[in-house]
Amino acid sequence: MKSIVILISGRGSNMEAIVRAGLPAKVAAVISNRADAAGLKFAAQSGIPAKVVDEREFSSRGAFDAALEAAIERHSPELVALAGFMRILGVDFVRHYSGRMVNIHPSLLPAFPGLHTHRRALQEGVKLHGCTVHFVTPQVDHGPIIAQAAIPVHAGDTEATLAARVLQQEHRVYPLAIRWFVEGRLAVENGIVRVDGSDARQVLLVEE
Ligand code: GRF
Repeated sequence: MKSIVILISGRGSNMEAIVRAGLPAKVAAVISNRADAAGLKFAAQSGIPAKVVDEREFSSRGAFDAALEAAIERHSPELVALAGFMRILGVDFVRHYSGRMVNIHPSLLPAFPGLHTHRRALQEGVKLHGCTVHFVTPQVDHGPIIAQAAIPVHAGDTEATLAARVLQQEHRVYPLAIRWFVEGRLAVENGIVRVDGSDARQVLLVEE
């Protein structure tokens, strides 16, 4: 059975969704860059080894990345899943996990890479918003797109209501994308992700 290491920084609701999805894979460990990440508790309660690689204990990005890599490699995972991991990783680290590290981002990339995606979506007046699961590449929030879920933006939406509705979709689309990965159904050709199997739906459209 393939194994996954999940990296978190905070709440960990996406990690929880992945664990609860009953995937044909083992979540071998959850690693946080912050000791106070709430999600560590769920991991420990679920019997998943939970480890902190505290970013404050390292003076350089290189030293932190090396420690993180060592913590991951103890489990020899097939996949590293970033789930609300709020730290930019160095180019060498990202290259090391090329094609086997994925991320969830709360916007329909390539729109709104970076932070405050819901606020920016409202400011731009977009009518569709959502989330994206993508392979991680050195350019932050720009890797090959595996799957997206889109929701309508309503007139009365606030940053909080949008965030909540997008998060519901994150919990749906991230486990699905990881399932495709562990089933060996993903291939990247010229930066475009193909999913093997005719029933694979890379776009989830939510009608409200
Ligand atoms: C999610 O919105 C994710 O897309 C973003 O950070 C948030 C993390 O939430 N990268 P959680 O820790 O998974 O609950």
